Amino acid sequence: MKHKLNFIDSELSKIKNDNLHRKLQYGKAQGAYITIKEKKLINLCSNDYLGIPITKIQTNQLQSSSRLVSGNDESYRKLEKILSKHKGQQNSLIFPTGYMANLGSISAIAKKGDLILSDELNHASIIESCKLSGAKISIYKHNDMNDLSKKIKLQGKNKFIITEGIFSMDGDVSSLKEITEISEKTNAITIVDDAHGDFVIGKDGKGTPNYFNVAKKIDLYISSLSKGLGSFGGYVSSQNNVIDSCINKSKSFIYTSALPSFLVEHSIKRIQSNREIQQKKLHDNIAKLSEGLKSIGYEINSKSQIIPIIIGKEKTAMEFGKFLFKNGIFAQPIRYPTVAKNQARLRISVTAWLKKSDIEESLQIFEKGFKKFY
Ligand SMILES: Cc1ncc(COP(=O)(O)O)c(C=O)c1O
Repeated sequence: MKHKLNFIDSELSKIKNDNLHRKLQYGKAQGAYITIKEKKLINLCSNDYLGIPITKIQTNQLQSSSRLVSGNDESYRKLEKILSKHKGQQNSLIFPTGYMANLGSISAIAKKGDLILSDELNHASIIESCKLSGAKISIYKHNDMNDLSKKIKLQGKNKFIITEGIFSMDGDVSSLKEITEISEKTNAITIVDDAHGDFVIGKDGKGTPNYFNVAKKIDLYISSLSKGLGSFGGYVSSQNNVIDSCINKSKSFIYTSALPSFLVEHSIKRIQSNREIQQKKLHDNIAKLSEGLKSIGYEINSKSQIIPIIIGKEKTAMEFGKFLFKNGIFAQPIRYPTVAKNQARLRISVTAWLKKSDIEESLQIFEKGFKKFY
């Protein structure tokens, strides 16, 4: 071992002592279940919310090049057109992942001298992109419109308000109606990362802004194809000049290989599938599981498919996770730095894959865990 790298051991020891060490687990996720070490578990942490039955595709084509070189397969044009219609925007651009869509798009349009107002619970990829942009960043208290109204008065050439639609770790929805009102009054640009609301809520799964009837007031949408849609990739939808700016300025778009076209085809098939039935199944499952958890005694504030059970201490959350695993449930504890210290939680995500019996079995196990860990 190279002694020059020994400093890493002490950093890792600190992470372990704080109960924050992460380990990769190998498993096979399929539908409602995941098999780990030959144990079949009910999967309560998949983001394949709609559970669209597997779609078969004809090709397994890889382009092996950036989209600006020879990677821009024809299928992109078709999917981007569908996504623009889905979001009611002029144009769209697909990135390899939602993370890269955030990283590339915000940093392409905001710059030094601008002001970005960012919700305190925004995703890591939004935070990184804001930093990359060089703009002044002001973090407003989570979904707190009084704080946002105060902070929007700070100096900045262009002003941006950035929020998630459904928050990824708390499952609550952003106050988009109020945010768009503030944007209108102050001429701020409104950006919504709707990775968890897209395809899940709103008419025809059009997302959180559609749900609040403010879709037309959003200037830039960022989303993932890897969650509600259960496919893979990220995208942005906006007006033509924003998309052109991303093509010309987003480093996470320009300097990386194109998303394989078979995944683009996969997304097209899934968007064109009967999503309405899956949406209904999902919302029935959300109601059953969250009502069940509440009746056991858990405090559940989320109304979405993301249901966090806040435990607090990292160690207890880890022990609860192990207990669930032993009893047949996979629900990974979420700890710092994904959430604040002492805010560790079990982040349950509901999918349409779950059958009535899976939900009933899960609730029985959560009932046992309640007395031990909550
Ligand atoms: C709010 C939010 N934005 C973006 C992403 C990144 O999306 P992707 O998984 O497609 O990279 C995530 C994923 O965890 C997310 O929760």
